[in-house]
Amino acid sequence: MRDFLKRLPKAELHLHIEGTLEPELMMALAERNGVSLPYGSVEAIRAAYDFTDLQSFLDLYYQGMSVLRTARDFEDLAMDYFRRAHDEGVVHVEMHVDPQAHLARGVALATVMEGLGRARRRAERELDLSTAMIMAFLRDRPADEALTLLEQAAPYWETLDAVGLDSAERGNPPAKFSEVFQRAKALGLARVAHAGEEGPPDYILEALDALEVCRIDHGVRCLEDPTLVERLREEAMVLTVCPLSNLRLKVVERMEDHPLPRLLEAGLTLTLNSDDPAYFGGGMLDNFLACRRAFGWSREVFLDLAGNAIEAAFMPEARRTELR
Ligand code: ADE
Ligand code: ZN
Repeated sequence: MRDFLKRLPKAELHLHIEGTLEPELMMALAERNGVSLPYGSVEAIRAAYDFTDLQSFLDLYYQGMSVLRTARDFEDLAMDYFRRAHDEGVVHVEMHVDPQAHLARGVALATVMEGLGRARRRAERELDLSTAMIMAFLRDRPADEALTLLEQAAPYWETLDAVGLDSAERGNPPAKFSEVFQRAKALGLARVAHAGEEGPPDYILEALDALEVCRIDHGVRCLEDPTLVERLREEAMVLTVCPLSNLRLKVVERMEDHPLPRLLEAGLTLTLNSDDPAYFGGGMLDNFLACRRAFGWSREVFLDLAGNAIEAAFMPEARRTELR
């Protein structure tokens, strides 16, 4: 089964590129850029990744990215991830990027976008790995800051496939970002949003109605609202589920308790993703393997889930045909 899951062509629709920063690269970039870290070793970094909830993770995630300073750093970050993903049978990666987290520390948008842009072109050329980019807004920061970012990103609109919404969910409902998502729609950008990870099912509903998203990132709490589940099923709304993330952030206590089998049973359109692989103990293959261990799914289930991701991906039709 491991060989089958490794060879299965996988598209990853929910990944934060800053969440691919492995401790080894974090240490190397800290050294290269003269940034001091509150850790003495790679082991100490890994030992700190003992999260109690989303916020406890976000605190370390934002701290970790302090080592990313130059375009080369962003290029190295993304290329390192693309190589690892490629080795696991990933053929397409859609990365969220959090520009506000970099702007706030004095790193220019051009630095981030140029570094990631170089890595994307290399991935295509060197690995035959297609990529897409989702510019995410931090929902725990003001909505007008998101709007300013979207306008500031004008030179990069062409390189964006979608806008997204991430960071601390509770107390930051999607509707706060209606205006900036409307603007993104007017620019012809697709929209996705994290909802129903830690937040209530109402946030999923709001993401659908106020933000007009084409995918829900996470969405696992939809099961608390049967009417919502019915709507998600009818609309074949894609949920980008991240099993190991949910386990490590204590959305579930044990993988065996994960709602994935119930979501599947409800007829929802699901995909499997890694979210922040460097922080949650595994990439795409590990997430697939964790589901196999916990739920005993057959090859057919994994073929379906991997197929859903190819169908829902932001990619040219010619590429989709090639991957089908
Ligand atoms: N940013 C990075 N990972 C995230 C997650 N799992 N939820 C919300 N925001 C994030
Ligand atoms: Zn996420």
